[in-house]
Amino acid sequence: MDKLLITGGTALNGEIRISGAKNAALPILASTLLADGPVTVCNVPHLHDITTTMELLGNMGVHLVVDEKLNIEVNGPTIRDFVAPYELVKTMRASILVLGPLLARYGRAEVSLPGGCAIGSRPVNLHIEGLQAMGADIRVENGFIKARASRLKGARIRHEVVTVTGTENLMMAAALADGTTVIENAAREPEVVDLADCINALGGKVYGAGTETLTIEGVESLSGGRYCVLPDRIETGTYLVAAAITGGRVKLKDTNPVLLGVVLDKLIECGAKVETGPDWVSLDMQGRRPKAVDIYTAPFPDFPTDMQAQFVALNCIAEGRAEITETVFENRFMHVQELQRMGANIELHGRVATTTGVERLTAAPVMATDLRASASLVLAGLVAEGETVVDRIYHIDRGYEGIEEKLGQLGASIRRIPASHTDSASILSDVLP
Ligand code: EPZ
Repeated sequence: MDKLLITGGTALNGEIRISGAKNAALPILASTLLADGPVTVCNVPHLHDITTTMELLGNMGVHLVVDEKLNIEVNGPTIRDFVAPYELVKTMRASILVLGPLLARYGRAEVSLPGGCAIGSRPVNLHIEGLQAMGADIRVENGFIKARASRLKGARIRHEVVTVTGTENLMMAAALADGTTVIENAAREPEVVDLADCINALGGKVYGAGTETLTIEGVESLSGGRYCVLPDRIETGTYLVAAAITGGRVKLKDTNPVLLGVVLDKLIECGAKVETGPDWVSLDMQGRRPKAVDIYTAPFPDFPTDMQAQFVALNCIAEGRAEITETVFENRFMHVQELQRMGANIELHGRVATTTGVERLTAAPVMATDLRASASLVLAGLVAEGETVVDRIYHIDRGYEGIEEKLGQLGASIRRIPASHTDSASILSDVLP
């Protein structure tokens, strides 16, 4: 497995471009299955999860044309298979996002149950119950969700728990249903709004996106078209934290600061100087040590769970104590024990991590367990004394396009050690004079 080798101690400085949002590109690529004609999706990030999605669609017989900028033209009607196999779903849970569109457009789908992951059990009951409310016949057997529907019917659905991909799956299913669907307590994330905007660009009628009540009037068909994915707010927030943790100054272009909301507020609270423009955001820590900040994660517009691990890393070297409460997932502190190995002072009690900032972290060999935990270990490596080796970085490749190139552009000392050279001897021979 590839590893990242990071030499800490450099204050980041410079400008980089932010990529399209992974968590918008995935549902939008799935939504192309709804259309009668080819849909071109642009500003798609070059990530492993995108490759997996293209493989999933390609295996179904969907025709894909990819240009040099990774604009992807998806021609859904060439589909010949309606199965999302375990081999792919186990590597990317978001594969379940083909369930709604396949049912709505073709009346059939067989999608492997995604199963849990490092951060939680990740049930999909709300996806299934919502589709059943719309008239789908769904059986769960042999590890698969087997669904059939002559034509889905509009329904009124209320989610007890806010679910991002659950809202997205049901929005896509409702887009071609007979009648109107109302989803109450819907997810309000910007990526959900981006999906709604894409469906509407293809002729759909989705109203209320970004509020807690979605109304979708089913239409007979959706046309082909073109849609560009919004910038990745979590990638943006991660690089802002990279500047804050190293006491540096960065400017991030091709992004949208409005999407960051409370994350910017928290960065200002920790002492950073933040400036924004229509498509850029800059952070200047002015060489100062950040102040620790309390974090309480919750669905948008509150503090995003996908930025929690990054702020734990920031708090590890910040001034003072703080509490980070994770309310969305039951096991999203896997990064804590790895950070403790780097000298962090963190006490974990259930869903609350209490950090007491230390003057410095020390490098260590650490292991990534999930996407955002791996980002927090890279952030800690940027500021730790010595050479940090982050293992299992396939997790990070799922969500951060060219992380070592982008951090390198900002002055970080970071390089990828390919799997074939990752035994300790060759690492030492690489780094020893
Ligand atoms: C999406 O996951 C994101 N993934 C996650 O990003 C993100 O952390 C999460 O939303 C929360 O914002 C994509 O968009 C591809 P949920 P999702 O359904 O939709 C419970 C990353 O790092 N729940 O909103 O799978 C669930 O257990 C990834 O980019 C049910 O109980 O998350 C959890 O406690 C990680 N039943 C809560 O809802 C269901 O049927 C929120 O989960 C569905 C969810």
